[in-house]
Amino acid sequence: MNKIILTAAATAVLAAAAPAPALAQGELVFYCSAEENWCRTMSEAFQRETGVNVLMTRRSSGETFAQLMAEAGQPRGDVWWGGTGDPHLQAAQEGLTVEYRSPMLDELQDWAVRQAETSGFRTVGIYAGALGFGYNSDLVDENPPSCWADLLDERFRDDIQVANPNSSGTAYTMLATFVQLFGEDEAFAFMADLHANVSQYTQSGSAPIRAAATGETAIGIVFMHDAVAQAVQGAPIVTVAPCEGTGYEVGSMSLIEGGPNPDNARAFYDWALTAAAQELGAQANSFQVPSNRNAATPEQAPNLDQIRLIDYDFARFGSSEERSRLLARWDAEIGSAPR
Ligand code: G6P
Repeated sequence: MNKIILTAAATAVLAAAAPAPALAQGELVFYCSAEENWCRTMSEAFQRETGVNVLMTRRSSGETFAQLMAEAGQPRGDVWWGGTGDPHLQAAQEGLTVEYRSPMLDELQDWAVRQAETSGFRTVGIYAGALGFGYNSDLVDENPPSCWADLLDERFRDDIQVANPNSSGTAYTMLATFVQLFGEDEAFAFMADLHANVSQYTQSGSAPIRAAATGETAIGIVFMHDAVAQAVQGAPIVTVAPCEGTGYEVGSMSLIEGGPNPDNARAFYDWALTAAAQELGAQANSFQVPSNRNAATPEQAPNLDQIRLIDYDFARFGSSEERSRLLARWDAEIGSAPR
């Protein structure tokens, strides 16, 4: 009896000494497909504000989609935050994610709500960013490339990097962008020519611009905000919005069907849509346009109104059939082609 009373008293003392009030408790298994630094900033902020213990893993968008497929019989993750929208849409279609209408939807930009509507409210837009490329101005000082077509120039042989579209949402956005800009057969012919200049298909979407920043390659095909992030940190990187026009991403967030901590997952989802949470991106050196209308757009964010953006067909390129078909064609015609 005494022991029980003592234990209760000790618990009360501990609770009184606890720091901020824990609004919720337990765990959140957080799959993150944005930049590692931003993923960590989000985990730590949510943990600090709620007392929930956040277990974060960073993987690229296509890899996380594959992981959800593999874990479908026994889901381990609770929420998938960040990464390009197409694989989030495919996950929605495959029933891997949960329908949820956050009360925060009212505060979001139209493009973010459209992403939710396209998926039957199984995903939502959290940020937007345009595709482009960046080059190292120490390595390319004459006639710098300004168009997609310039990347085929033989002076860039083995000097361009882009990710593999199977693992990376960035590279899938490039593939889908070329199909929409040039037509499908022309897009594959273009990527076959580009193949001669590509030294490496990386796993993660932003790795090519990190390689360009250190001079390991001259050019990285990436989201423009990832190139800007390198320049902001002092690397000799120039960011290019290609002259033919370009595609863009609606970075997305989804709740994982059958995840172990659904209440904490919904709390994270609502919180991640607030202006304050979205403004953490700039602090973490991520310069996308936030989806909450009240969140400040970082001053370094490429201005989407001044870039020739295509009318990207998210419903089509995020559908299971189309994404699987295009990736299989890329593997057969580009990824496995000799160089
Ligand atoms: C970077 C960008 C994000 C994008 C993500 C996709 O982190 O900053 O805007 O959503 O890449 O990553 P992935 O590795 O799938 O291309």
